[in-house]
Amino acid sequence: MSDPVFLITGASSGIGAETARQAAEAGYRLVLGARSVDRLEALASELGGAERAIAVRCDVIEWDDQQKLAVAALEAFGGIDVVFANAGFGAPRGFLESDPDHWRSMVLTNVYGCALTIRACIPALKESRGHLLLTGSVAGRRALPGSLYSCTKWAVTAMGEAARLELNGTGIRVTLIEPGMVATPFFDNVPTSGALQAEDVARAVLWAVGQPPHVGVNELLVRPTEQQT
Ligand SMILES: NC(=O)c1ccc[n+]([C@@H]2O[C@H](COP(=O)([O-])OP(=O)(O)OC[C@H]3O[C@@H](n4cnc5c(N)ncnc54)[C@H](OP(=O)(O)O)[C@@H]3O)[C@@H](O)[C@H]2O)c1
Repeated sequence: MSDPVFLITGASSGIGAETARQAAEAGYRLVLGARSVDRLEALASELGGAERAIAVRCDVIEWDDQQKLAVAALEAFGGIDVVFANAGFGAPRGFLESDPDHWRSMVLTNVYGCALTIRACIPALKESRGHLLLTGSVAGRRALPGSLYSCTKWAVTAMGEAARLELNGTGIRVTLIEPGMVATPFFDNVPTSGALQAEDVARAVLWAVGQPPHVGVNELLVRPTEQQT
């Protein structure tokens, strides 16, 4: 049997890139999607080159790109076993902060983009009886003052449960990963203490994926020990 295939959106940086590294270590072949092709290509080559990892430009808000990502996985590796819908970004808190164009882009990326990844990958996941993971957030479990970002992650929380309910009986497992603060370029000023590292979240992802097929880990909320809320 050939090695299983792990597709990640938002694989060019942070949690997605570290998950790719740990998945490669665990024996998966990788399909790496994001907009920054140069970074994806560098990562694909670090993970062993075209036999082991492919880089595919994918803007998650574009349905064509999402379909091409799934097709590229099938053409290169013949199937998809794990899908990690992880692409996303934030905005300053406050309903008078940021600007409407940034908001539109964030809502489309975090919510619509996540839904498009699910849509594009369900057929392959049904075939493999695979695993779907979504990156939510602790901010998708409690509202943050003035945070439209938090609202997008509440939507992702709902999407995880909606997908689980729809896919129940197909053999597909669904896991919502809900990190607290993680030291990644998500922040303009990356936190230097009191935060998780991307590797910590990646370990949680790999743990959920590594459970036996009859064990569905539906939610994993992982905070830095020092984070109160
Ligand atoms: N850091 C935290 O504290 C934290 C906490 C909870 C949840 N999260 C969530 O974790 C996920 C990953 O974030 P991170 O912390 O790893 O931040 P990051 O290092 O900034 O990574 C974000 C990733 O999303 C990709 N992305 C953004 N817009 C995209 C688009 N339209 N199409 C495709 N890819 C896109 C970026 O790639 P390109 O720019 O190359 O496209 C990048 O690979 C996000 O969903 C974020 O909301 C983060």
